[in-house]
Amino acid sequence: MLTALRANIIAAPALGKLEITEYGYLVLQDGVTLGVFPTLPEIYKTAQIEDFGDALLLQSFADMHLHAPQFPMVGMGMDIPLLDWLNTYTFPLEAAFKDIEYARAVYTQLAATLINNGTTRVCMYGTIHTDATLLLMRILDDAGITGYVGKVNMDRNAPDYLCESTGESLRETLRWLGECERFRNIRPMLTPRFVPSCTGELMGGIGRLAAARGLYIQSHLSENRSEMAWVKELHPDCGQYWETYEKYGLWKDHTIMAHCVHSDARERAAMREHGVYMCHCADSNINLASGIAPVRAMLDEGLRVVLGSDIAGGSQLPMLSVCAQSIRASKMRRILTGWTEEILTPAEVYYLATSAGAQYFGGGTGFPVGEPLHALVLDDKGFSKTVRTGANPPTLAQRLERAMYLADSRHIAAVFSAGRRVK
Ligand code: GUN
Ligand code: FE
Repeated sequence: MLTALRANIIAAPALGKLEITEYGYLVLQDGVTLGVFPTLPEIYKTAQIEDFGDALLLQSFADMHLHAPQFPMVGMGMDIPLLDWLNTYTFPLEAAFKDIEYARAVYTQLAATLINNGTTRVCMYGTIHTDATLLLMRILDDAGITGYVGKVNMDRNAPDYLCESTGESLRETLRWLGECERFRNIRPMLTPRFVPSCTGELMGGIGRLAAARGLYIQSHLSENRSEMAWVKELHPDCGQYWETYEKYGLWKDHTIMAHCVHSDARERAAMREHGVYMCHCADSNINLASGIAPVRAMLDEGLRVVLGSDIAGGSQLPMLSVCAQSIRASKMRRILTGWTEEILTPAEVYYLATSAGAQYFGGGTGFPVGEPLHALVLDDKGFSKTVRTGANPPTLAQRLERAMYLADSRHIAAVFSAGRRVK
């Protein structure tokens, strides 16, 4: 069916660049984008038009790092640093996902909240529990969310109630992979939690599995100084944290490393050379007092950077809020580094939160012709006209900026994921 969405269309074709089509048309054939036009081309005259008036039509968001089982503790317990936080709050909560009915209740609520906030692509962690992770994938798929989910691997330095044996972890990973064919838009990615949680034997097994099956990997890197010191103790033969992943075949193209707060120039060069993605989790890094990642340097050096909410180290699931928090963090870094680093702009974080994530999954930037639509409609009339009285009304770029600071799910009027309307 030929349809057209009419609204103020804002795309992020490149880092820092906005492509704005004032009250234009986004034309679709069966949910696949045919193009964005300022006026409706003659050949599409028969399109059924849905008019969103003065609303903004934005690209929907990609949350490239979050922990589904931590959703129940979102906004709580951020008074202690990473390693204490894991032991005190996180591990006991994750253990509860042994109970499939508990998992069903939490994951159903999470999927609905993601869609409500315009997040249609994810790279997400489950728990060590295979069946609960499969259920998470089923629930996300049914809700219309796309992307990758991982069954978490952990075989050491965890409490008994959340620890697998090495053999069990690898066997369960194989069983899990065997059941992942049935989903439409959700695929598996390998998820060794982080170096302290995994023996070398387990990491080696996961590395071989990734190579044999062409699977992607997600984990954590250089988030916190105590964590880094521990990794150094566990692997005295490795000069830097990243080399422990490299040693076991986990450091490669499309591997996502979350945080990278303390990654120095050498570690960053290794990321760039190997096509490793850096997932910036600004809110979490401040909540857990981990630090502020050197995102500007990473962008200047040509690293592939994406954004993550990192629920529940991060307390903001809406990616609009993650955008605002990424800008705030860049300003704090600027203050703390003697005013030497450039701050992130709204156009840059919009790109990182949308197009950069889409590219991870093989998509194009902006609203790519020939791809199923990922978009949201933001009705900002509640605050778009405020403050500026008398003078010029805000531009569309200013309205995008303001939405990052002021909008919430109530302002998201419609969401499209993989060509389908899901809100
Ligand atoms: N490192 C290992 N596990 C975790 C986790 O659950 N959250 C964060 N922020 N860092 C981690
Ligand atoms: Fe994390």
